[in-house]
Amino acid sequence: MIRHLLADDDLTPAEQSAVLDLAARMKADRFGFTPLAGPRSVAVLFDKQSLRTRISFDAGIAELGGHPLVVDTQVTHFGRGETLADAGRVLSRYVAAIVLRTHGDDRIAEVAAHATVPVVNALTDGYHPCQLLADLLTVREHCGGTAGRTLAYVGDAANNLAHSYLLAGATAGMHVRVAGPAGFQPDPGVLGRAEKIAAGTGGSVRALVDPVEAVRDADVVATDTWTSMGQEDDGLDRITPFLPYQVNTALLGHARSDVKVLHCLPAHRDEEITSEVLDGPHSVVFDQAENRLHAQKALLTFLLEASSS
Ligand code: CP
Ligand code: NVA
Repeated sequence: MIRHLLADDDLTPAEQSAVLDLAARMKADRFGFTPLAGPRSVAVLFDKQSLRTRISFDAGIAELGGHPLVVDTQVTHFGRGETLADAGRVLSRYVAAIVLRTHGDDRIAEVAAHATVPVVNALTDGYHPCQLLADLLTVREHCGGTAGRTLAYVGDAANNLAHSYLLAGATAGMHVRVAGPAGFQPDPGVLGRAEKIAAGTGGSVRALVDPVEAVRDADVVATDTWTSMGQEDDGLDRITPFLPYQVNTALLGHARSDVKVLHCLPAHRDEEITSEVLDGPHSVVFDQAENRLHAQKALLTFLLEASSS
């Protein structure tokens, strides 16, 4: 069976843990794993902008011995009528895996439904599962593990990162609290899926409005932009309701004294997070960014192996 990663809960707790173990081994022996030697090619397609995802997949595929094909879809037929189903079928004839950053989750689901190689979600409106593998690797490194740790995500609790924190954090056995203003709360369906996962891993999930309640005694505090790609012109006030959710020194004062701060980047400095915090002693954001590379190398290796067995 072909294995995809479309949302965080496509990996079981055991599989997620195995990918993170492999990522740690790949980080320790950066050029020692070449499962794509041949080389086999991987298509990495972008409907939206990117810096980290683009470069970390490009470099990571090369480090695995493979050939990365990084393509902005504006130069393809994506926007002028070629169906995603046909694109999935065609690309499967050329490459070992397809990585796609796009808008609606229905778009990546259509590619995956017709692809005969693994499809990886490199960010959709609904989820950012590659980011979460990097974040969990970072939490392992800085907090000694994930199970039982409390992670608070504050800001736009309706966005892709909030959903991925709920699902991937629950899978890792974490206590996940997401807090955002009314109108920016997580999708109830995603929350329900995360609750079910948490019941099996010993973790827990909560959706809150109060940012102080969310970060109280947290081991990890995470945030993300208040305006995700594609939301720039949605007519909503994406500043005023979010001001109490800014990750600043005062808010961090409610967390554990050794709290670690995550931000997937790019940051809007002094909006969702102050420069003082981002550049301060609690911040692990550049380790987090580096871990995209290691986590994605491990993920691709895992999906290719799992799909061939
Ligand atoms: N964090 C992240 O996905 O960054 P990019 O948008 O730069 O890829
Ligand atoms: N929520 C953000 C994440 C960017 C990496 C977005 O979708 O734009």
